Amino acid sequence: MPDLQQRELRDAVTGHPLVEAAFGLAHDLLGGLSSRWRHTRGVAHRAATAAAAVPQTDRPVLVAAAWLHDIGYAQPLRRSGFHPLDGAWHLQEHSWPEPLAGLVAHHSAARFVAAVRGLAGPLRAFSAPRFARGPLADALTYADQTTGPDGQVMAVEDRLAEMLRRHGPDSPNARVHPQRAPAIRAAVLRIEQRLRARR
Ligand SMILES: [Fe+2]
Repeated sequence: MPDLQQRELRDAVTGHPLVEAAFGLAHDLLGGLSSRWRHTRGVAHRAATAAAAVPQTDRPVLVAAAWLHDIGYAQPLRRSGFHPLDGAWHLQEHSWPEPLAGLVAHHSAARFVAAVRGLAGPLRAFSAPRFARGPLADALTYADQTTGPDGQVMAVEDRLAEMLRRHGPDSPNARVHPQRAPAIRAAVLRIEQRLRARR
């Protein structure tokens, strides 16, 4: 493994107080959920490898958001049952930096699913444009949507297909798939292009 990649992977868990704190909270909430934890670890590592696509000052925020993006699945945090929002509320109420709550709220084009679940209003409370769009939001979506449910690196098309199978044909995710999938593919493509341009 090239030195650079090794350093990126190490930085996924150490090296910055925000990342360390995010790792600690995610581990406390998801560490006992084996598959969810493997996925979370994979997304954090994937975010570290994509960090070059965002400005240097945003890199710890990206990796911290990757650790935290699925904490809303933890039973103690369940409120709306929509994990991006449940996770974001927890972060907001515990005074985590605003960008983290916003990125978690909007990760992987959550706005489409929120709309059909009647949760567009609460999601709008996390309204800064860069939480939903732009390199930082794209990079988090890239990390999540190219990491499988067991933490393995996965092509975005395989990930979308796996997600549809898991949620089922009548799920909110399936209903918004025609609108959401192109937004996810576009985010992944933009990050791949940014990473290629840096090589
Ligand atoms: Fe995820």
